[in-house]
Amino acid sequence: MTEQQIKDTLGTVKYPGFSRDIVSFGLVKEITIADQLVTINLQVQTTDPAVPEQIFKSCQEALGAADDSYTYKVNVDVQAPAQASGNTQSGGAGGKSGLPGVKSIIAVASGKGGVGKSTTTANLAIALQKQGLKVGICDCDLYGPSIAHMFGADDQQPSATADDQIIPIKAHGITLMSMGFLLNQDSPVIVRGPLATRYIQQFLRQVEWGELDVLLLDLPPGTGDIQLTIVQTVSLDGSIIVTTPQEIALIDARKAISMFSKVNVPILGLIENMAYFICAHGEKYQIFGKGGGEAEAKRLKIPFLAAIPIDPTTCEAGDDGTPIALASPNSSVPSEAFHKAAAKLTETMSKERAQ
Ligand SMILES: Nc1ncnc2c1ncn2[C@@H]1O[C@H](COP(=O)(O)OP(=O)(O)O)[C@@H](O)[C@H]1O
Ligand SMILES: [Mg+2]
Repeated sequence: MTEQQIKDTLGTVKYPGFSRDIVSFGLVKEITIADQLVTINLQVQTTDPAVPEQIFKSCQEALGAADDSYTYKVNVDVQAPAQASGNTQSGGAGGKSGLPGVKSIIAVASGKGGVGKSTTTANLAIALQKQGLKVGICDCDLYGPSIAHMFGADDQQPSATADDQIIPIKAHGITLMSMGFLLNQDSPVIVRGPLATRYIQQFLRQVEWGELDVLLLDLPPGTGDIQLTIVQTVSLDGSIIVTTPQEIALIDARKAISMFSKVNVPILGLIENMAYFICAHGEKYQIFGKGGGEAEAKRLKIPFLAAIPIDPTTCEAGDDGTPIALASPNSSVPSEAFHKAAAKLTETMSKERAQ
């Protein structure tokens, strides 16, 4: 076996629960080949003992299958995640989250794109703020940032302090950071791999979030490197899964749920978006099927937060820069649904805390 063949083989091993492989995520530190003995040194940051175990097993299996005439010695060096050391450096004022002043961090995720994560994040932020909480949103979707636009703030630019901290933007009372503030709307984002990882780490750690009760993370779709970077950079208090009712979206939602459970992040609830459409005569149409999200939540024993209708005013409100939960706080079905979802969410959060 050559070093390249070994790397290629290790490149088929995925980080448990994620779509990212261990080579491209930089876990492989050293490979040495001496006659028939191959020694591989890996380094992984986690607090979950199941992760190194699983990686060790998958490596042995993949290598054995590739060429069983060699002996493979796989050493997995386990380190505490970055947030532990970050906390110490920053004086540990951030509590569990790993960010100074931020009480809890919640990721809003889905497997599939376009299901309404950003719409949900924006409206939940407004609804949580109405409950009296101080709320921020970190838009972690570098390639399709929506939050700046949904808050009517895409012409604003964050400034930096003398010690290179980023001062976030405030819109409708919510503290925001998004790639949308750094680029003009028509520029494509051409950051990949390690640079994308650095942006996410900066968005989380180098932004002066101030005192926040909740920081919502608007995630890109999938279970890839951005998600993995996030769970290694901060300590998530929980996640919210957004899905649409059809099976094709639910399949991907299950992957996202399994990713979070692999890293011990509690699922605080599932939101079924685009659940139904109410026509002008008041009739209800279940365009993408009936109750798929609610049934799934029941099956997986996770709280069902809301069924949000498809509604043109929700879309328009997002486009116009004032989320529907703020634009029509009491008078519309979707707005009410978001406020109810936020109420259930805080209830679940306080139960989680009490445990
Ligand atoms: N319940 C809804 N009713 C109508 N339009 C919606 C609804 N939810 C999302 N949309 C629209 O669908 C598009 C995709 O939503 P978005 O929140 O950006 O999804 P994601 O962040 O998952 O990619 C946006 O134009 C948004 O305004
Ligand atoms: Mg989005």
